[in-house]
Amino acid sequence: MSGNNIYPVSPELAANSLLTNDQYLSEYKASIEDPEAFWGEKGKILDWIKPYTKVKNSSYAPGNVNIKWFEDGELNVSVNCIDRHLASKGDQVALLWEGDSPDQDAKITYQELYTQVCQFANALKELGIKKGDVVCLYMPMTPEAAVAMLACTRIGAVHSIVFGGFSPDAIAGRIIDSSSKLVITADEGRRGGRTVPLKANVDEALTRDGTDCVEHVIVFKNTGGDVNWIEGRDLDWTAVTQSQPTDCEPEAMNAEDPLFILYTSGSTGTPKGVLHTTGGYLVYAAMTFKYVFDYQEGDIYWCTADVGWITGHSYLVYGPLANGATTLLFEGVPNYPTPARMSEVVDKHQVTLLYTAPTAIRALMAKGDEAIQGTSRKSLRILGSVGEPINPEAWQWYYDKIGNKQCPIVDTWWQTETGGILITPLPGATDLKPGSATRPFFGVQPALVDNEGVILEGAIEGNLVMLDSWPGQMRTLYGNHDRFEQTYFSTFQNMYFTGDGARRDEDGYYWITGRVDDVLNVSGHRMGTAEIESALVSHPKIAEAAVVGVPHAIKGQGIYAYVTLNSGEYSSPELYAEVKQWVRKEIGAIATPDILHWAEGLPKTRSGKIMRRILRKIATGESDQLGDTSTLADPSVVDKLIKENQEIN
Ligand code: WT7
Repeated sequence: MSGNNIYPVSPELAANSLLTNDQYLSEYKASIEDPEAFWGEKGKILDWIKPYTKVKNSSYAPGNVNIKWFEDGELNVSVNCIDRHLASKGDQVALLWEGDSPDQDAKITYQELYTQVCQFANALKELGIKKGDVVCLYMPMTPEAAVAMLACTRIGAVHSIVFGGFSPDAIAGRIIDSSSKLVITADEGRRGGRTVPLKANVDEALTRDGTDCVEHVIVFKNTGGDVNWIEGRDLDWTAVTQSQPTDCEPEAMNAEDPLFILYTSGSTGTPKGVLHTTGGYLVYAAMTFKYVFDYQEGDIYWCTADVGWITGHSYLVYGPLANGATTLLFEGVPNYPTPARMSEVVDKHQVTLLYTAPTAIRALMAKGDEAIQGTSRKSLRILGSVGEPINPEAWQWYYDKIGNKQCPIVDTWWQTETGGILITPLPGATDLKPGSATRPFFGVQPALVDNEGVILEGAIEGNLVMLDSWPGQMRTLYGNHDRFEQTYFSTFQNMYFTGDGARRDEDGYYWITGRVDDVLNVSGHRMGTAEIESALVSHPKIAEAAVVGVPHAIKGQGIYAYVTLNSGEYSSPELYAEVKQWVRKEIGAIATPDILHWAEGLPKTRSGKIMRRILRKIATGESDQLGDTSTLADPSVVDKLIKENQEIN
C-alpha cells in the first residue's frame, strides 16, 4: 500500500461539483463545532409533517447509551421518497429495472411508484398490519422489493429484509427474533440464469418452531414457477393489491419511531437485529447520497447491491429516492451472461453514477478486457466502492478500464450499524489515494485508539472508533439494548467501537485495514466465525470446529475451517463435500467454507480456550510467526497442523 500515488481533483471537477475542498473543510469544521446548528439546518433536506425543535440528544456513557436525533419531529419516509417529487417529477423514472436476462427491463415513474406503493400499503392495512408491526421481506431484486419497503414505511410498519441467498433456518431465526407478522416473498428469484426457490424456502422456514407469529405470506408471481400454496395463509400479490384505492394517507411517524431492522453478523452468537429509526436515518442517507455521489439532476444512478444488505437500503432505495433520483435495480450478476454485462448495462441505461463492490471488480478484472468489450462507458461520471478494503490493483483497474481514467472513485467506508457512509472522498473536494477511504463525512468524528482505549495522535495505526453520534447511527439491537451496549460501547468507554482497524497517514487520510474481531468479510458479506462454527458442529459427525479467514484473490477473504471429527469417524472426499453442503444448507451459499482442514486436535490453552491467533497463522502459511506457544495445553498439535496445512496447499 503506498500513500504516494495521488489523484488530485481536477479544476473542472471542482468547478462542476457540489462541494470544493474549501467548502468541505469549512463545513466539516462547523459540523463538529456545533452539531446542533449544523444538523438543525441539514435536517431540512427532508419534508417534515411536524418540524423538530430538538436536534441532537445522545450519550455514549457506560450503562446509559442513548441516541436520539430530531426527537420531537414527525415525518413519513414514503412521502419524502415519493409524494414530494410528484409535482415536479411525476413522469421522471424513479425505478429503472434491468432483469437477469438482458432482454428484460422496466421503467417505473414517480407517479406509478406512488400508485403501486399506496395500493400495496392499503393491502397491508386490510390484512391488519399496523404501525409498529414487523414485516419480513424475502424478495428478489425486482421493483416489488422497493414497493414493499416503501409501503411499510407509508403505514409505519417496520421491515426486516432477509437476503434472498439465506437458508430457511436463517429466515426462521430472523422471523422469530423480530416476531414478524407477515412475510412478503416471490415464487422464485432469478440470478445468473438460475432460479432461486424463494417461496419454497419460506415454506420450509415456517415449519420451524416459533414461527407461528406469521399470519400471512404475500407472494409476488415473478417467474411463474410452481409453488406450494397454503389456503388462508398464502395470498397472491396481485389479488390483494389490484382493487385497492390508489391513495393511502401516510402515517405521521415520530423521528425516533423504528423504520427497519436488519440482521448482521457479529463476532459471537446469533445475528444481531440492528435497529434504525425514521428521521435521523433518512436525513443521513439523503445527505450522504447527495454529496458522496455529487448527485445532480439528470443523473442515472446504479448501485449493484442487493436490497437484503444495508447498501441496498440506504443507497439503492432510500438515499436516491429521497433526492428524487433515478435508481437502477438489477436482478442479475455483473458477469452474466458475459463478463461485459456490467459495462453493457452502463451503456444501455446511460448510467452516470456507479456504486459496486471490490469483489465484483476483482472478478471482472480477472477477465481482462472481456469485461469492457464492445462498450464505451462514456456516460459514467463517478464510481463508488463499498464493502471491504479495495486493493490498489483493483482500484487502478476500475479507474482505468471501467471509468476510462475520467471518473473519481469514492471508496466509502461504513457498516450496517452506521446507517450511511462515514469515511469517504467527496468527488469535487478530495484528492484520491488508491486504497484509502480518505476523510470523514460531515459530523463524523473518527479516532484511533490503542488496546487500552487511549486516543492516538498523528500518523499511526489503531482501533477505529467514533467519538460522537451522527444522525444515521443505529439506536439499539432489536429487543436487546444490553447486547447493544456490550457489543459497541464496552470495549472502549464513551466511544462507538467499529470492530475495524485503521491507519491514518500524514495527510489525515484513513486506510481501513479490516476487522480486528472474529468477523469475516467474504465477497463484501459479513460472516461471524461463531455462526459458521455452530453450523459445522451441528453436523452429526463433527466434534469441534474453528473458523478463520484467509486471503482470497476474488472474495477478499475465504473461509478456512478446522474440523475435528467424532472419534470413530473418518475423513473422506465424500464427507468433505457433504460438510461444505451442510453449512450451505444451514446458513446460505455465502457461508460455504473454501477449505476444510481435518484436524485431530486444536491448539488450546490449559483452560480450554481455542487459540485462534495460532490457527490464523497456520492457515495463512505464516507458521514461522506463531509467537509464544508455551501456554498451550499440548504444544505438539501445532506441528501436526502445520504439516497438514502444507499438504492442503
Ligand atoms: C464492514 C461492514 C457498508 C455496507 C457494506 C458492508 C467493511 C465496508 C469498506 C471500505 C474497507 C470496508 C468493514 C466494515 N467495509 N466498507 N470502503 N473499506 N472496509 O456492511 O456488512 O455491515 O460490513 O465492512 O470491515 O466494518 P457490513
